[in-house]
Parts: sequence; structure tokens; C-alpha cells
Amino acid sequence: MTAAGLLAGRIAVVTGGASGIGAACALALAEAGADVAILIHADDDAAMEVERAVLARGRRGKRIAADVGNEAQVEGAFDAVAGTFGVPDILVNSAGLNQSGVAVADMEFAQWDRLLRTDLTGNFLTSRRFVRDLRNKGEAGAIVNITSIHAFAMRAGGADYTAAKGGQANLTRTMAIECAPLGITVNAIAPGMILTPMNAEANDSKRRADMERAIPSGRAGTPEEVAKLAVFLASPDAAYITGATVVIDGGLSLMMGQGA
Ligand SMILES: NC(=O)c1ccc[n+]([C@@H]2O[C@H](COP(=O)([O-])OP(=O)(O)OC[C@H]3O[C@@H](n4cnc5c(N)ncnc54)[C@H](O)[C@@H]3O)[C@@H](O)[C@H]2O)c1
Repeated sequence: MTAAGLLAGRIAVVTGGASGIGAACALALAEAGADVAILIHADDDAAMEVERAVLARGRRGKRIAADVGNEAQVEGAFDAVAGTFGVPDILVNSAGLNQSGVAVADMEFAQWDRLLRTDLTGNFLTSRRFVRDLRNKGEAGAIVNITSIHAFAMRAGGADYTAAKGGQANLTRTMAIECAPLGITVNAIAPGMILTPMNAEANDSKRRADMERAIPSGRAGTPEEVAKLAVFLASPDAAYITGATVVIDGGLSLMMGQGA
């Protein structure tokens, strides 16, 4: 099934757009007809490649650097988007850091703060500005937050990540209520194991096979599979879906509680 034309005339902002799920979302949104502002942490070849690929799909594309956890930088980035494309009506929040692997008793405050600021506060700052601009303009839109199955499946050493992702899930649901009267949907995608730089340990084939054995579907997912879902949730076809979390994990999270 092709999504071509589904998002024609729309303007999207994708955070974490230089790699992994964010990069796949940027390309899929462009494929579906949207112009795409690619928010990146720092400029590099990967970011340039995503911008080039958006342009190659016949859409407008621009990479804009900002730390999503920094209020002034997020505001500056959205000013730049508005100045370049106009007010965006699709926001995909994909920027994030992975768990530290450190138990709470041993975790530095700086680590906790860095992860919460990126994975949760970043989502708040971008969403707040996005909704303010659309509300001023009186237009509808869609927010898609990339959370994780670890919003509800806990891991020792992952308190920074599970707390941030759980917060992101509830931010999604709370904003869905607040934004419904504005015609803005707010949904989450909760991926399981997806082959991106965040899952670099899967580059080792033995490690990957071990991890994939835990997944009922028998394989990890791809960023493109997540991106197709993001396009759907941003599209008019999903206008009556809000506050939902769509799990995309090959059944991994269904295995909780088994084996003991
Ligand atoms: N890969 C997986 O298995 C998986 C599973 C569940 C959820 N997720 C979530 O998906 C999202 C995307 O992750 P990914 O797998 O594509 O990994 P990734 O590392 O490829 O992407 C994360 C992106 O976030 C950006 N980023 C990090 N800190 C930032 C900051 N302070 N400001 C702006 N950008 C920043 C990075 O530059 C990077 O481009 C994350 O929120 C992650 O938690 C990933």
C-alpha cells in the first residue's frame, strides 16, 4: 500500500531526525507528501543525508539543530521552521537516549537529569510550542510520540529510561484530552526491539540472535515499520484516534511474566 499524497500540503517536524526511527519517519512523511523539518542534535553527514533524501522525494526539507531539552533552542528551532515552511501541523517526537544500565542506588543525578531532560522534557517543550502555534492559527494537527514498551515493561538498570518513557506515555494521554477540542490528536507508538543505532549491540550477530529469540515474531523490527505507523497516525485516516499507544514489538511485551 502506498501512502503517496496522504499528507500532501502538510508540514512536519521530526525530532531525532538524523538517525534510526526519526530518520525513517522523516523519509516516510516526505514520501506521503509532507514537507519536513528535520530537528537534529548536531549537524553531521547523517543529517545532511536525511535532508538530501527528503528533497529527493520532491518535498521541502531542512535540518535544524537544537537540543530538545533546552527551552530556548526548541523555541529557536520552531521559529526557524515557521520562517522556512510555515506553522507545522505534524510533530513526531523521536529524539531520545537509551537507559544507562545503572541501578538507582548508583546513579549520578547528572545521568538521571540528562535522560529525563531529553526523553521527557524534550517531548514537553516541542509539543507545547507546536500546540501553541496551531491554536493561534486555529488549525488541526497531529502529534506522534515515540515512547517504548519500557514505558510499561521494567528493566533493572533502566529507571532513568522507564521513568522518562512512562512520563512520556502519560504526557501523551493528558495532552490528548487537552488537545482534542483543538482538533489536534496526540498518540504514542511504543516500539520493542528496532534495528537502529540505539540497538548497536544487535550489530553482533550472536547477540542479535539471542535477543531475537525472546521475540514471538522471531525478529527485530525495522525503523521503516515504525515510520509507516507514524504516517498513518499523522494522517486524516487516524483523525478519530487520540490518546492511544500502538505497540509495535512482534509480541515481545506479551512475554512479560512468562518463564517463572
Ligand atoms: N531502537 C529501539 O529499539 C527503540 C525501542 C523503543 C523505543 N525507542 C525510542 O525511539 C526513539 C528513537 O530512537 P532510535 O532507536 O531511532 O535511536 P537513535 O539513537 O538512532 O535516535 C535517537 C536520536 O535522538 C537524538 N538526540 C539525542 N539526544 C538529543 C537531544 N538532547 N536533543 C536532540 N536530539 C537528541 C540523537 O541525535 C538521535 O538522532 C527514542 O525515543 C527511543 O527511546 C527505540
